[in-house]
This record gives sequence, structure tokens and C-alpha cells, in this order.
Amino acid sequence: MHILIIGGSGRTGKLTISELLRQGHQVTALVRNPASMVDFPDVNVVEGTPTNIENVRDAFKIQAPDAVVVTLSAPRASDSPFAAPISPPRLMADSNANVISVMKEFKVSKIVILQAFGVGASWDNMPCLMRGLMSMSNMSYQYTDHNHTDREVRQSGVTYVMVRPSRLVESDAMDLHEWSNDGKGVPLMASASRKSVASFLVDTAVQTKWDNSCPVITN
Ligand SMILES: NC(=O)c1ccc[n+]([C@@H]2O[C@H](COP(=O)([O-])OP(=O)(O)OC[C@H]3O[C@@H](n4cnc5c(N)ncnc54)[C@H](OP(=O)(O)O)[C@@H]3O)[C@@H](O)[C@H]2O)c1
Repeated sequence: MHILIIGGSGRTGKLTISELLRQGHQVTALVRNPASMVDFPDVNVVEGTPTNIENVRDAFKIQAPDAVVVTLSAPRASDSPFAAPISPPRLMADSNANVISVMKEFKVSKIVILQAFGVGASWDNMPCLMRGLMSMSNMSYQYTDHNHTDREVRQSGVTYVMVRPSRLVESDAMDLHEWSNDGKGVPLMASASRKSVASFLVDTAVQTKWDNSCPVITN
């Protein structure tokens, strides 16, 4: 398959590209800085940002993809939950809206979006301590942006999978536990290895089993 990745220069994005290539898929990546993709000579790299719809169109013009995978993040000044946000408040929602508009122009029907446990229907089943941290720290901006995306993608009419892992860690790929969309039962200190999440993103993009769902995943 031919997959367009948005956010492919990020930590989970690069692992997702590696897994796509390992499985023999063709990959196009829309990135702000093409130099960040030197390790991927087999990827079609398009320079630009998903916040600019013309740049998104350029990425589709090479060859319309079979599906789009979005591994964008709205970063803070550091990974600390209390670090200041450094992204526009709707970075992810507006980027996904641009992608979906262009998908419709090019008749591409499927988008897979990396989100987080606690977004959408999984909020109520997040342990209280974690909900407190998400609400009171600057992680709340990212959750609000993911929640705008959740609502708008559902209304868009495209086929979606919004993948919701718990805390991401750098360990080797491990077996994943898949919870229901509401994340009921996920333990307090759950985590998910980025490599496992990358593999799951590829599975959800190339298979139809998870279409129109929002699986919560942990290791
Ligand atoms: N950290 C966790 O424990 C955790 C847990 C669950 C879910 N998640 C979710 O996982 C997702 C991906 O996280 P990650 O750690 O893999 O991300 P990351 O390494 O921080 O990568 C972020 C990506 O977003 C792009 N980006 C950031 N700001 C941008 C902007 N203003 N305009 C255009 N592109 C921009 C970056 O592009 P550049 O390379 O050009 O900067 C990069 O490709 C996030 O949505 C996060 O909510 C994280």
C-alpha cells in the first residue's frame, strides 16, 4: 500500500515509517525539515506543514495514498507536563481538518491518528490521579486539541482509527494489550512501547478490523 505520514519526523513517526518500509509499503512523508529524513532514502519526502492546506495537497499530488497516518504532537517546551505549550492551540485539529479536506478531494477514505489514553470516551476510565495531572498541568492543552480532533473526525464522514496508547516508553516492541474504546480497566502505571505502538498504527492502517474505532492500547 501507499501510506502518507504526517508527523513522520517525530519519535513515533519515524518508528512507524520503519515498520511500513519493513513490510514493503510505499511511504510519502510531509515534513517541515527534509534534512530530518536523511535516514529514509526510500521515502518520498515532501517539504511543508500540515497546517498549510496547499502543502498537504502537494503531498497528495505525487500519488494519492491508500491511507494517511498522523503521528503529530503539539509539543511543550520539554516533555515535562508543566512545561509551557509551544504550539498553536489547534495544531492537531486544524492539521487533521486540512488532511481530511484534501482526502475528500483525492477520494482517499481512511485516516489513522495517534492520540492518547484519556482522549474522548476513555477519559472517564483514566485513573483519578492521571486525570488530575492531565487537567492541572499543561498536558491539558494537548488533550483539548486531541478532543477537538476526536469530535471533528467523527463528523467528517471519513473512515478513521484513533489509536490511544498509555504513556509512551522507549523499550523494545512487546505484546500489546488492546482494551475497549472506553479504556475500562487500564491500570494506573500502564505504558506502551513506541515500537509496539508504531506496529499497531501500521496494522490499523492496512487492515480494516479497527475501522471507525478508537482502541486504547498498553503493553
Ligand atoms: N509522550 C507520551 O507519553 C504519549 C502518550 C500517549 C500518546 N502520546 C501521543 O503521541 C503523539 C506523538 O508523540 P511523539 O512523542 O511521537 O511526538 P514527537 O516526537 O514530539 O513528534 C512530533 C511531530 O509533530 C511535528 N510537529 C510538532 N509541532 C509542529 C508544528 N507546529 N507544525 C507542524 N508539525 C509539528 C514534529 O515535526 P518537526 O520534526 O518538524 O518538529 C514531529 O513530526 C502525540 O499526539 C501524543 O499526544 C504521547
